[in-house]
Amino acid sequence: MVCSESWRHKLKKITKAVFPVAGMGSRFLPATKASPKEMMPIVDKPLIQYAVEEAVAAGITDMVFITGRNKRAIEDHFDKAYELEAELAISGKEELLRLVREVIPAHINCIYIRQAEPLGLGHAVLCAQPVVQDEPFAVILADDLIDGEPPIVKQMVDIFRQHQCSILGVQDVPREQTRQYGIVGSAPMSADLEQVNSIIEKPKPEDAPSTLAVVGRYILTPRIFHHLGKVQAGAGGEIQLTDGIAALMQEEKMLAYRFKGTRYDCGSKLGYLKAMVALGLKHPEVCDEFAAYLDSLK
Ligand code: G1P
Repeated sequence: MVCSESWRHKLKKITKAVFPVAGMGSRFLPATKASPKEMMPIVDKPLIQYAVEEAVAAGITDMVFITGRNKRAIEDHFDKAYELEAELAISGKEELLRLVREVIPAHINCIYIRQAEPLGLGHAVLCAQPVVQDEPFAVILADDLIDGEPPIVKQMVDIFRQHQCSILGVQDVPREQTRQYGIVGSAPMSADLEQVNSIIEKPKPEDAPSTLAVVGRYILTPRIFHHLGKVQAGAGGEIQLTDGIAALMQEEKMLAYRFKGTRYDCGSKLGYLKAMVALGLKHPEVCDEFAAYLDSLK
């Protein structure tokens, strides 16, 4: 086990989150033909904003987006919108003006790195190395919208503070779905923490070491970059983050955390619809009328 790298002594806090947003969003075509899947709204906020808000709630200040072609709308979303703000101000729409300004708090930095070719999630994370350098960091997949209190990345950062090692956000999935996830083999440490001893990307149900799936939230030590630089294309011909994690766990402790919250797979139509209903029922502006409407359908 490597226990004495410099970052352990230098850094107490996770300050950077990586958002891989270069994916094509083919499951939502034609909606994603000209606009990023991460900009699809759940009620009135795009998926990527939920992900960024989760990072902000965890005390993270540097948002590193790994983007690709057709993703400019994400940069615009987190930029200052001078004309829109001026128009809202002139017409006295104070509440809307506040909403627009609150999209990104003033102390947050947004950094964009372009992934020129879609070589896989592991490659996308490796693209963040020049910014992250030798700090531990979070990876957040905006497709996985997780509703939890405290927000899930905050839960994981708190665990990191205690254990100072990589942590994977996991949940149990039906065995017939293991093909959709990175699946871990692990030994329980407590009710919600497991020590990970193996991980495999998208195994067949009969080959899966368990039904514990990684779902879009990671805290990783910077040693992951060393391994991602070496892994070969794996499942689906892509450079898989899972394969980098498998190599990392050979030399460092790795934990799996059963987070407290409800996860919606917004990379699928059904998951997206479920998220829309669940968050619609919580939205102060529409919850009562929406609940009455859903009741009327029964
Ligand atoms: C990615 C990861 C996989 C993880 C999943 C969570 O897969 O490769 O290990 O379980 O995200 O959503 P993707 O959904 O991009 O195919």
